[in-house]
Amino acid sequence: MIVLDKITKTYFNADEEVPVLKGISFTINDGEYVAIMGPSGSGKSTLMHILGALDTPTNGSYLLDNQDVSKLSEKELAHIRKDKIGFVFQSFNLLPRSTVIRNVALPLIYSRVAKEERTERARQALFSTGLSEDRFSHLSNQLSGGQMQRVAIARALVTNPSLILADEPTGNLDTATGELVLDTFKQLNDKGHTIVLITHERDVAEHANRIIYIKDGSVLRDEAKKSS
Ligand SMILES: Nc1ncnc2c1ncn2[C@@H]1O[C@H](COP(=O)(O)OP(=O)(O)O)[C@@H](O)[C@H]1O
Ligand SMILES: [Mg+2]
Repeated sequence: MIVLDKITKTYFNADEEVPVLKGISFTINDGEYVAIMGPSGSGKSTLMHILGALDTPTNGSYLLDNQDVSKLSEKELAHIRKDKIGFVFQSFNLLPRSTVIRNVALPLIYSRVAKEERTERARQALFSTGLSEDRFSHLSNQLSGGQMQRVAIARALVTNPSLILADEPTGNLDTATGELVLDTFKQLNDKGHTIVLITHERDVAEHANRIIYIKDGSVLRDEAKKSS
């Protein structure tokens, strides 16, 4: 589903050029659970922005479901994001004074799904993250961090995207809560969702079935976990 070929990204600022990605190539198939791991500053978030069609590479090609998304316009990228990609961020990015259900149903408004169906799909997405039902009508700012991240995962899922991208999703959680969130990704992967998990922590990366190590904007190693 994902084919990156010699992707580079250079930021051009007023008085300097910052080369961040230096020729990244890899393929991720449907249904994989992959971690992209590397130290802070190695280019993980920059790569995630490209994978998520939030930004385009400077050079190289990116095929997502056989479509070359490396040269699309802003408007076309927005379409790809809406149809194919669910995002989970370190900082949750929820609307604090909206209910859990409303937060999760929000992406469906842009897809013009009717209200009743939005609510039903939001509930289903929330159930699949294991958030307890008595939280569904709470305001999102009344939740714990772990609960907020479940809501964010449900929001990423609700449009049934082919790809879920998570950038340091456990970065603001304590270890035990992070484990629970990582269990949720595992369950989603078992149901067939493709997951790309970005992290600088080995313990987190080891939850995936394959780890792509990046350093200084290049792929250092690409290891599939030995099946047990
Ligand atoms: N808009 C930008 N302009 C210039 N440099 C940037 C920009 N965004 C990120 N960088 C630089 O790119 C490098 C990689 O950043 P990032 O992709 O956020 O790494 P990571 O997520 O692995 O910590 C860093 O050195 C960062 O300072
Ligand atoms: Mg980052």
